[in-house]
Amino acid sequence: MTSEEIRQSFLEFFEKKGHKIIPSSSLIPENDPTVLLTTAGMHPLVPYLMGEKHPAGQRLANCQKCIRTSDIDKVGDTTHHTFFEMLGNWSLGNYFKKEAIEWSWEFLTGKEWLNLDKNRLAVSVFVGDSDAPFDEESFNIWKNLGVSEKRIAKLPKKNNWWGPAGETGPCGPDTEMFYWAGDADKVPEGFNDDNVSWVEIWNDVFMQFNKKADGTFETLKQQNVDTGMGLERTLAALNGFDDNYRTELFWPLIKKIEELFGKKYGDSLEITRAMRIIADHLKAAALILGDEKGLMPSNVGAGYVLRRLIRRAVRNGFSLGIKETFTSKIAEEVIKIYQEVYPELKKNKEFIINQLAQEEKKFKKTLENGLKEFDKIFRSLSSDEDKKFFYIGGKDFFNLYQTYGFPVELSIEEYVCRRNKLGYTPASEEIQKLWTEEVHKKMLEHQKLSRTASAGMFKGGLADASERTIKYHTAAHLTLAALRKVLGEGVLQKGSNITSERLRFDFSYPEKMTSEQIKQVEDLINEKIKEDLPVICEEMNLEDAKNQGAMGVFDQKYGERVKVYTIGNPSTGDFFSKEICGGPHVNCASEIGKFKILKEEAVGTGVRRIRGIINF
Ligand code: ALA
Repeated sequence: MTSEEIRQSFLEFFEKKGHKIIPSSSLIPENDPTVLLTTAGMHPLVPYLMGEKHPAGQRLANCQKCIRTSDIDKVGDTTHHTFFEMLGNWSLGNYFKKEAIEWSWEFLTGKEWLNLDKNRLAVSVFVGDSDAPFDEESFNIWKNLGVSEKRIAKLPKKNNWWGPAGETGPCGPDTEMFYWAGDADKVPEGFNDDNVSWVEIWNDVFMQFNKKADGTFETLKQQNVDTGMGLERTLAALNGFDDNYRTELFWPLIKKIEELFGKKYGDSLEITRAMRIIADHLKAAALILGDEKGLMPSNVGAGYVLRRLIRRAVRNGFSLGIKETFTSKIAEEVIKIYQEVYPELKKNKEFIINQLAQEEKKFKKTLENGLKEFDKIFRSLSSDEDKKFFYIGGKDFFNLYQTYGFPVELSIEEYVCRRNKLGYTPASEEIQKLWTEEVHKKMLEHQKLSRTASAGMFKGGLADASERTIKYHTAAHLTLAALRKVLGEGVLQKGSNITSERLRFDFSYPEKMTSEQIKQVEDLINEKIKEDLPVICEEMNLEDAKNQGAMGVFDQKYGERVKVYTIGNPSTGDFFSKEICGGPHVNCASEIGKFKILKEEAVGTGVRRIRGIINF
């Protein structure tokens, strides 16, 4: 069966059951603040699910273009996509569970319809919780249709509840249908949600509730049915593919990518994954651009989703090693696949091609520079062991974004990808933390500080910041002293740069520090902090300061009288650090807290740089 045959046969089936066929709505929702893009067939129907009268009646069916980015991280496997088509039938307060489930079964297994092997099908129903009871009715309907109890899973909200599409709106328990995409002679007796060979192909949602803004559920005026069958997955199932990209809705794209990149699909997992992401994302981008609304890539809302899709595709193209422009060439193939079903693509072809080419060009420059910087950070880690556990903080991500325009989510992806390659996959909590706690915090701080600067407000915040700066200043003195102890007296300070967030310290040294040396320096600094050495300021003649062994940047001009800061005891000569310096500093080392060296890198011939943070 071809994709068009499936579309037609679905619509014909439901027409026979008294449904009116409605066209696919736009991918860009109108007057709906709850979603950026149309994520499901039910979305444009929300007012009718809430009780408004639909002009075409109470039974509707269609094939809807959808974009869903909630599973964007799964794209690259065989079944997840950002753009997909959803075949759906609706009851707006008309029929309910019995008809919906029986018709789904009939369409899936009926000889004149999809005729799927019953033995390769399984279902799940809602198990019940404090919001709504176990969906016994659906369970019994499936049982009566002859589905074995072992193939009817009872699962929680996470699996068997749908909606609302935004924060509020219609929702309810659902029952899902799965097809066994593995070997025909290895179908397990029971259904297991963890086994990826059981692919969800259809979902019947029973929309009985409205979720309100306060998080509670109220019963809807009418009982609705909202179903969604994934066209791409169904097409794969019917044609015996365990990979959606082998179907006619993707294969021409993969072929084009192979040709442009000179690589073969299936050669390695990495290549395959990158090709799938390129095909998926550019298809989605072309469909969004081809929609009648003329949406363009931007930094906000749906425009940003579009931009992100194109950028991710370009990034993956980069990793496959392409230099020439490729996005528009793949989009041309997308248009060929869909132009009969979605004629707007043909109409808007020029717009699609131009927008893609422009965005790709703009982004390539950003990408090249950003990746180079990212590489630098990565290379500055000396051993594989370091790399495995290396941690690029949110601050670096933020700086990459600020200085190079390198998108934060790409930084995070790079980070994950490089760690994956080293066989050390960061836990999802770590990524979440990085994103929410670090980057976000940094972004907010940045916003707050720039607002503060212009409005002259939030003095407390700035006072906090300057207190931190003072701590970093004293930490810089400890760093110089510790470096000289560990690496030798040849080490001289070449510069330092302090913000309330970090210390950057440049010093002379001919080679890369080993990870042992870095650790020794870090330990020594923390040891002195723990010893709580006093920080003492004295005024004296420059000559005396030099005689006492005070460090200074001597090509800088000092006056006759200078301030000298000693960490340790200034009178006995038993001190850890002595520097000519204007201050200010903390009173005793313990005020610093804890010090950590984030990285060590080259900044020029014979000059190294350390980045450190305190109280991380
Ligand atoms: N709205 C339901 C879904 O998207 C059918 O799965």
